[in-house]
Amino acid sequence: MVDSLHGPADDTFMKGVVLAGGSGTRLFPLTKITNKHLLPVWDKPMIYYPLECLAKAGIEEVLLVTGGNNAGDFIRLLGRGAEVGIKSLQYTYQDGSGGIAQALGLAQDFAAGGPICLILGDNIIQRNIREPLRRFRHQGEGARVLLTPVDHPEQYGVAEIDGDRIVRIVEKPKQPPSNLAVIGIYFYDGHVFDIVRSLRPSARGELEITDVNNAYLARGQLTFDVLEGWWADAGENIEYYYQACLRVRAEGANQD
Ligand code: TTP
Repeated sequence: MVDSLHGPADDTFMKGVVLAGGSGTRLFPLTKITNKHLLPVWDKPMIYYPLECLAKAGIEEVLLVTGGNNAGDFIRLLGRGAEVGIKSLQYTYQDGSGGIAQALGLAQDFAAGGPICLILGDNIIQRNIREPLRRFRHQGEGARVLLTPVDHPEQYGVAEIDGDRIVRIVEKPKQPPSNLAVIGIYFYDGHVFDIVRSLRPSARGELEITDVNNAYLARGQLTFDVLEGWWADAGENIEYYYQACLRVRAEGANQD
């Protein structure tokens, strides 16, 4: 049975969307002739980690959104996804770099009205997302974000928390309301594409994922979990990229 909001009745079923578009300018010149997500992070291409993250959570149908000049390299690398534990890997192409929410919008037909887990292709985590996924499915509708404490919250989207509620999310605040950054793994119900369609480009000309999350917040439908283990944003800058390599080397990623 499939209903328009929640997909098949199985309460763990969910599709995944991995974003591997963008410009990667902060890693220049490493990304001058290739896509950021194809760069090595210790012993594997970066894109393996978010795909394995989804696979380990039992998400077996995944859409990879890429762009730029290297789209064919992803198919050569990943094929149908078997090597990273994905049963069905599909691909689509984003023209330009109009933002994370624009790239997400390309997944509408793939999602077919059901819930999705969105993960940014440069995000790597130490543990797994099975528990937040289970809680999201239990929640039934709305959205769920993952938060983690960071040393420099002014560089991220930061959540202001009141008990078990998110009060607001602010992008790169000069005076952060907490040290909890919103990481690049999100759970959304089937309404997310209506929200994406209603967005207007931000001052930097992108459709912002923070605006999607704030739309759910305004409806009282945004929940959160604090991530277990470390989180690495390998695409943030060359230092963070290097730190991600060291962390994966020392401790491994996507562990139980
Ligand atoms: P960012 O690191 O914010 O952007 P970027 O990859 O364009 O890099 P830079 O700012 O250095 O030029 O992107 C976060 C993730 O989202 C990354 O995995 C790429 C993906 N992304 C898209 O798929 N499409 C987009 O339009 C954007 C902006 C990002």
